[in-house]
Amino acid sequence: MRRLSFVTASVIAISALSLSACGNKDEKPAATKSALEVNGLKTPAAFESIADNEQRSAALFNEMAKVMLHPRCANCHPVSGGPTQGDDMHPHNPPVIRGSGMGAPGMECTTCHGQENVEFASMEGSIPGASPWMLPPEFMGWAGKSSAELCAQLKNPATNGGRSPEDLIEHNGGDHLVNWAWNPGEGRTPAPGDQETLGALTAAWVEAGAHCPKS
Ligand code: HEC
Ligand code: HEC
Repeated sequence: MRRLSFVTASVIAISALSLSACGNKDEKPAATKSALEVNGLKTPAAFESIADNEQRSAALFNEMAKVMLHPRCANCHPVSGGPTQGDDMHPHNPPVIRGSGMGAPGMECTTCHGQENVEFASMEGSIPGASPWMLPPEFMGWAGKSSAELCAQLKNPATNGGRSPEDLIEHNGGDHLVNWAWNPGEGRTPAPGDQETLGALTAAWVEAGAHCPKS
């Protein structure tokens, strides 16, 4: 009897051991947290090797600009005139005017753009939607600008809509309209990366001193 219970106990001990070994293996995927790239956008971890704060910050901004200058963002951030469409950023069809940012009286953006993307019934594609669908003021336009110009504009109190670099962390990382760029609806290429990575890049840029690229 005593022997038998000893064997049983050993078996239990051994299986517990192998179970905990399994548990350790399962923890491995946590390493992917420090992934260097998400959907074609580098994460802050990819810049850790740049020791100089100013250089690392500027490089982080260039990565943020890959998203901000992407047509999904830039189509809604024209420097003048109305919104543009598509990856080639052609003028909005049907023609619309900016008005107060909401379009013309009686032909507001929300006449056609709803709270969500709506697929066309008769052909491929969709009308994009998110709320509040409208244009930012012209001074917040950046379509066609360089990364350095965009950075200077975002840091200039006269052209940044009262947002400090710190405020951009929340806007880029959490704003609902900004999020649309990764869920742009049938027929549109999403912006690179995801919103979480853009937020993390913005936070790392600020932490390193919010320096701008030279060109
Ligand atoms: C008369 C209807 C109508 C009005 C009004 C309208 N839009 Fe559109 N808009 C569309 C349609 C339809 C599309 C999709 C075109 C396509 O993809 O073929 C579109 C696409 C867009 C896109 C393209 C997104 C992308 O990245 O390709 C943007 C940006 C946009 N509209 C902004 C606006 C803004 C801002 C306003 C108001 C100033 C506005 N639209 C008013 C019908 C309208
Ligand atoms: C449907 C149109 C639309 C799209 C698409 C859009 N934005 Fe905007 N954006 C706006 C509007 C409107 C404002 C101004 C509202 C405000 O200040 O809160 C704005 C303001 C901003 C600002 C603040 C600028 C400043 O100087 O304070 C940032 C940053 C920004 N957007 C980033 C983005 C990014 C990044 C994307 C794409 C991932 C994007 N936006 C896509 C409409 C859009």
